Amino acid sequence: MREQQPNVVIVDHPLVRHHLTLLRSVETTPIQFRAHVRRLASLLAYEATQDLAEESHEVTTPLTTMTGSVVSTTIGLVPILRAGLGMVEPVLDLLPDAQVWHLGLYRDEETAEPVHYYSKLPPGQPVDVALVVDPMLATGGSAIAALDTLKEWGVPQVKLLSIIAAQEGIDAVIESHPETSIHVCAVDAELNANKFIVPGLGDAGDRTFNT
Ligand code: PRP
Repeated sequence: MREQQPNVVIVDHPLVRHHLTLLRSVETTPIQFRAHVRRLASLLAYEATQDLAEESHEVTTPLTTMTGSVVSTTIGLVPILRAGLGMVEPVLDLLPDAQVWHLGLYRDEETAEPVHYYSKLPPGQPVDVALVVDPMLATGGSAIAALDTLKEWGVPQVKLLSIIAAQEGIDAVIESHPETSIHVCAVDAELNANKFIVPGLGDAGDRTFNT
């Protein structure tokens, strides 16, 4: 793990680099792409959850009784549709009691501005920690819109998990939500004229769903 800016963690690991390299390849098929997203989402979640609150828990093993610990906070997993859906299953495997709250956002192709199309967050009773999952952080517009929504809901702690990010998007998120921690597998050099991450991996939603 590498912290390049306060609150920004780049997961620095051979397995991350391996699966990310294969994820980027234009030759990677949708079924392979989804598998690499799942593996990278697990590795990101493992890293991003290392400070979760715990409480003591008595457990009886086949041999004796001992005090272990369990996670004590309520966790919300917040996929940004569509591409974030590919990261839900692997994170839920690690956090089976998490609530899942979908946010529908797409980026307007002309303006690159985020457009909201789905949210069902209940009034009141926010989770303690929200993990926002979306494979890509480009301009940061979609992530910021999601973070605005979670702030309005009253979530005290939000973590953003993205497989790849552009520095521009990271800077935009930090500027509008400095309290949010950002966990990524890689920070790519730039955005092109169409606001696509370069070298990037193309469009994660299209590659996940073969559209
Ligand atoms: C992609 C990606 C992010 C967003 C990133 O989604 O999954 O949600 O763009 O760009 P930004 O940081 O500039 O907002 P897209 O709008 O293509 O929707 P999709 O997941 O439905 O394909």
